[in-house]
Amino acid sequence: MSALRTVLAGASIVGGALAASSAITANGQNFTLTGASSSYLFHVDQASGDLISDHFGGPATDFVNPPSISQSGWVAGIGDERREFPDVGRGDFRLPAIHISHADGDTVTQLIYKSHEISDGKPSLTGLPATYGNASDVSTLTVHLYDNYSSVAAALSYSIFPQYNAIARSFSITNNGTANISIERASSFSLDLPNLDLNMLELQGDWSHEANRVIRPVQYGETGFRSTVGYSSHIHNPFFALMSPSTTESTGEAWGFHLIYTGSFAATTERFSQGFVRVLLGLNPLHASIPVAPGQTFQSPEAVAVYSSEGLGGMSRSYHDLYKNHLSRSNHTFESRPVLLNSWEGLGFNINQSSLDQLAKETADLGIRLFVNDDGWFGNTPYARINDTAGLGDWTPNVNHFPNGLGPYVGDVNAFDTANTTESLMFGIWVEPEMVNPNSTLYHEHPEWAMHAGAHTRTLVRNQLVLNLALPEVQDYIIGAISNVINSANISYIKWDNNRGIHEMPTPATDYAYMLGMYRVMDNLTSTYPNILWEGCASGGGRFDPGVLHYMSQSWTSDNTDAANRLVIQMGTSIAYPPSAMACHVSAVPNGLTMRNISIEYRAHVALMCGSFGFELNPVDLSAEERAAIPGILDLWEQINAIVITGSFYRLRLPDDSNWPAVQFISANATTALVFAFQQQAMIKPAPPPLRMQGLNATGMYTSNAYNGSYSGATLMNAGLNPVFQIEDYQSQVIWLYRQ
Ligand SMILES: *[C@@H]1O[C@H](CO)[C@@H](O)[C@H](O)[C@H]1NC(C)=O
Ligand SMILES: *[C@@H]1O[C@H](CO)[C@@H](O)[C@H](O)[C@H]1NC(C)=O
Ligand SMILES: *[C@@H]1O[C@H](CO)[C@@H](O)[C@H](O)[C@H]1NC(C)=O
Ligand SMILES: *[C@@H]1O[C@H](CO)[C@@H](O)[C@H](O)[C@H]1NC(C)=O
Ligand SMILES: *[C@@H]1O[C@H](CO)[C@@H](O)[C@H](O)[C@H]1NC(C)=O
Ligand SMILES: *[C@@H]1O[C@H](CO)[C@@H](O)[C@H](O)[C@H]1NC(C)=O
Ligand SMILES: *[C@@H]1O[C@H](CO)[C@@H](O)[C@H](O)[C@H]1NC(C)=O
Ligand SMILES: *[C@@H]1O[C@H](CO)[C@@H](O)[C@H](O)[C@H]1NC(C)=O
Ligand SMILES: *[C@@H]1O[C@H](CO)[C@@H](O)[C@H](O)[C@H]1NC(C)=O
Ligand SMILES: *[C@@H]1O[C@H](CO)[C@@H](O)[C@H](O)[C@H]1NC(C)=O
Ligand SMILES: *[C@@H]1O[C@H](CO)[C@@H](O)[C@H](O)[C@H]1NC(C)=O
Ligand SMILES: *[C@@H]1O[C@H](CO)[C@@H](O)[C@H](O)[C@H]1NC(C)=O
Repeated sequence: MSALRTVLAGASIVGGALAASSAITANGQNFTLTGASSSYLFHVDQASGDLISDHFGGPATDFVNPPSISQSGWVAGIGDERREFPDVGRGDFRLPAIHISHADGDTVTQLIYKSHEISDGKPSLTGLPATYGNASDVSTLTVHLYDNYSSVAAALSYSIFPQYNAIARSFSITNNGTANISIERASSFSLDLPNLDLNMLELQGDWSHEANRVIRPVQYGETGFRSTVGYSSHIHNPFFALMSPSTTESTGEAWGFHLIYTGSFAATTERFSQGFVRVLLGLNPLHASIPVAPGQTFQSPEAVAVYSSEGLGGMSRSYHDLYKNHLSRSNHTFESRPVLLNSWEGLGFNINQSSLDQLAKETADLGIRLFVNDDGWFGNTPYARINDTAGLGDWTPNVNHFPNGLGPYVGDVNAFDTANTTESLMFGIWVEPEMVNPNSTLYHEHPEWAMHAGAHTRTLVRNQLVLNLALPEVQDYIIGAISNVINSANISYIKWDNNRGIHEMPTPATDYAYMLGMYRVMDNLTSTYPNILWEGCASGGGRFDPGVLHYMSQSWTSDNTDAANRLVIQMGTSIAYPPSAMACHVSAVPNGLTMRNISIEYRAHVALMCGSFGFELNPVDLSAEERAAIPGILDLWEQINAIVITGSFYRLRLPDDSNWPAVQFISANATTALVFAFQQQAMIKPAPPPLRMQGLNATGMYTSNAYNGSYSGATLMNAGLNPVFQIEDYQSQVIWLYRQ
């Protein structure tokens, strides 16, 4: 892998331009967090000791009076306050951020300000993925709260990354009493916004149908969604944006809220009688009830809020830059990722060393750099993984397929040189470490390691069960088994799949404990083997979440590789995640899921807008025309991968709003822009709207492959270009702009 390693030019926004250390001020107990173009204000109510929200939005420097609200009726006092960290049982009738069941059976909590401290940088979160940064990137305010009546301490942490207008929040609860307590609800981010008109945008879907934008008004009562799948899931992503009704892609206010967590979650807004909008994002209460013993501390996951006055696109770019620079720990984040070919859609389970060697040779002959061996390589009689009823959990190569083990086979693969180069073909492999088939040696030796609730039926999905990663012995088994695979052969890439949800947990709190265990395993393996390119996957985008992205630089975006559907899925995913983190492949036509026939150029242009590009097909199924197109596609990849990975991303037009969707990247040095322009359906009328760029230098002059001479940035942004498409379905163009 190291021969290939080309470290690309740095991040598009370099930390440090805005001193983080002056970003937090405390005036008495009035706290101001100042971003480049945002402010977050809250204070301690001197009479009650409660924390009160003042402002989260564009720049503001003063604490102003709250709106006057009639104090008659049942809701008064704390029930009409805008609260920072709402607890429960004292007259605030809205949903709380923290709900604790105390030893005596009551659930009243009174967390009162005790002290605070401000520090440079950001402490890590024990056992959980989180954003990170040094003193010039981020500073942290920690507010300590205490409940005298139930002996519970809370530490509420705010870390501001001023450059990105981003605030990371988490909290811990320490049981300072003498009996167990139980955490029933825990919202990592909580905030009370004033009575504003807001819409909520979420990314909703299912298997092969991920990341569809759903927008609904924030009404009185609760507006929200949750995952109870045990994982973040395809059903809902752990992200939402709030927007003014007039907000567009490029104008207006947008607030993003994003949970850095892979387990079940709940995302809620609650508009109450006074019109205030409570924001809550954290654990799903159905998968909480987390016991905290005397002297012990519960740590919540982290959530990151971003404010933008430049529309949804501005919010997205803040997340993209923050996650590339301060969430992903992978060595590969800013590196070009090798073009790959995955065996699954080509061979399925029908593999052996010679069929794989043949496919690897064809891969190399096409000029591709990385060959990926998908499912079917492991397990032995009677549990050989020759179909999906057996073998998961037994991470030893199938001796019938690989009589000499993986090492010599991978040696064969490495012996092929990628066409017209002296670079040897690299090898990657598929694993699904958190799963077990009852038909496996592992299950027969350790039936107690599979997730189960007493004597309840262990419900199978895809013939498999989930291992209980809350158990340290299961974590150690996986670390050992996967390390053995890696140590046995020259492996450059690993696809880490996960193909079912969690049912029948021993306790609701097992989901959180599982996540701590899973993160321990991922942390161990990715830090022991940092040079492996790790890709997260869960039946497609079922765990496309910031938790996995902390450890792995990329995730498989969807099992749906139909270019028409994929464009919608990728555009949706880009609302919260950088294109550099998406893995996207060209597969054969007619597409196996949708039966659509789309040209290889269009399929490639859709997949090339992602950081990790590849093919998922058997080269023998390619037509002569398709085969002839591949060298050109690989050349294009070579030219664009750097700007896709390090550039800033703009959604110019969305596939669900327009027949002519388009996206744009601008290089980190702001001199080069790349536009992918698409026409979905052939149309006689109307004419395509002008394609107007964004983010260019208005007075700069740009040359292009799309016109002669040079045009100003102002012309390109305001008048726009008129790309000529043939009257045919699924036409696409790649347009370069170079500033002179
Ligand atoms: C902090 O990190 C930035 C990159 O984000 C780097 O440029 C800078 O040198 C670092 N500063 C210190 C003091 O480590
Ligand atoms: C803190 O803000 C409140 C209004 O929320 C204001 O009454 C008070 O004077 C401020 N205190 C300081 C020290 O600025
Ligand atoms: C909590 O107890 C401490 C120490 O006994 C006392 O100083 C403080 O006033 C108490 N706070 C409340 C809100 O009762
Ligand atoms: C825990 O309680 C003891 C007394 O019971 C007190 O001294 C200590 O300050 C408390 N801890 C916290 C974090 O408040
Ligand atoms: C607290 O709960 C644990 C199980 O989570 C149990 O083992 C322990 O006995 C309990 N302790 C007390 C003081 O109730
Ligand atoms: C990859 O990251 C590890 C730390 O996680 C570091 O020690 C190593 O030098 C890095 N390798 C490269 C090639 O950047
Ligand atoms: C390899 O080079 C030959 C001759 O230049 C060319 O025809 C062929 O397309 C190249 N193959 C690939 C995969 O780039
Ligand atoms: C499926 O795999 C199992 C375990 O290797 C094997 O016993 C069984 O014959 C296979 N079934 C079919 C239909 O091939
Ligand atoms: C175990 O394998 C046998 C043989 O393929 C199959 O009939 C059976 O359904 C499998 N059991 C499970 C739980 O998948
Ligand atoms: C990974 O886990 C193994 C087994 O528990 C341990 O020996 C090793 O030190 C761990 N490595 C890292 C980097 O955490
Ligand atoms: C700017 O970045 C582009 C794309 O990464 C690169 O091709 C170009 O050479 C760079 N220009 C300068 C002046 O650094
Ligand atoms: C914009 O382009 C003009 C004209 O080429 C140049 O003088 C100016 O420095 C550029 N601005 C930025 C921010 O790059």
